Amino acid sequence: MSFIQVNNVWQEYGDQIVLERLNLIVREGEFCTLVGASGCGKSTFLRLLLGQERPSRGQILLAGQPLVAEPDASRGVVFQRYSVFPHLSVLDNVAIGLELPRSPLLGRLFGSAKHEARERAAELLRKVGLGHALDKYPSQLSGGMQQRLAIAQALITRPRVLLLDEPFGALDPGIRKDMHALLLELWRETGLTVFMVTHDLSEGFSLGTRLLVFDKVRHDPHAPNAFGARITYDIPLNSDRRAALPAQLAERLQPQLQGA
Ligand SMILES: Nc1ncnc2c1ncn2[C@@H]1O[C@H](COP(=O)(O)OP(=O)(O)OP(=O)(O)O)[C@@H](O)[C@H]1O
Ligand SMILES: [Mg+2]
Repeated sequence: MSFIQVNNVWQEYGDQIVLERLNLIVREGEFCTLVGASGCGKSTFLRLLLGQERPSRGQILLAGQPLVAEPDASRGVVFQRYSVFPHLSVLDNVAIGLELPRSPLLGRLFGSAKHEARERAAELLRKVGLGHALDKYPSQLSGGMQQRLAIAQALITRPRVLLLDEPFGALDPGIRKDMHALLLELWRETGLTVFMVTHDLSEGFSLGTRLLVFDKVRHDPHAPNAFGARITYDIPLNSDRRAALPAQLAERLQPQLQGA
């Protein structure tokens, strides 16, 4: 059963074609990692999935319906950094995700609804390992803690799709490993459908169920903007094959990712 369906999607900015002829079917609960050279359109693709931008051509369906024009609670997003509100405490950063949609004018809930929202936020924060830091502000957190906060913020509305744009790119390798474990645990528990952009090919292979490689297949040296990237490899990963794949394919993929 297709959950997300990308039908002949193109994205163009002026005379620059960034993405061309994207076709993809993703089942609910899949975990797709996206790799490709810098500037090839991976973040653009996530913005299309988020509904922040509409494709120049083609259509994206979510559960059989065209994507609504605005980002909504069905999709959560985490960027590489700076996606949390610096002036709000850790608890408020997450609780606001429940408060804003229900009370758009005031941005606040009252009484038992407020209590319930804050309790849910605190519970999720405990789950991502920030139970001891509810009253801290983002500037008082380490990079890894800020990304835990960003993940909690993205998940509080119980989205069905989680979009991650190089979420761990700025973290030390040891912290990154912890974040991988956390993300896999959350993914297994929630049945979320995940799209995660990474510059790290081994991260792309070791997390997730499917690796999507974005690359330009056509080049015109006289018109560098004339052709966009497509999905050139779509590689199923499962825990048995994962270990074997990097050696076979890394050599073929690495040249495409150079400059990434
Ligand atoms: N809103 C926009 N207006 C004009 N051009 C844009 C816009 N957004 C992206 N682009 C262009 O689209 C191309 C792809 O950008 P995008 O950020 O999606 O690449 P990326 O694969 O995420 O790169 P990186 O790996 O460096 O993050 C770039 O050439 C960029 O300049
Ligand atoms: Mg990007």
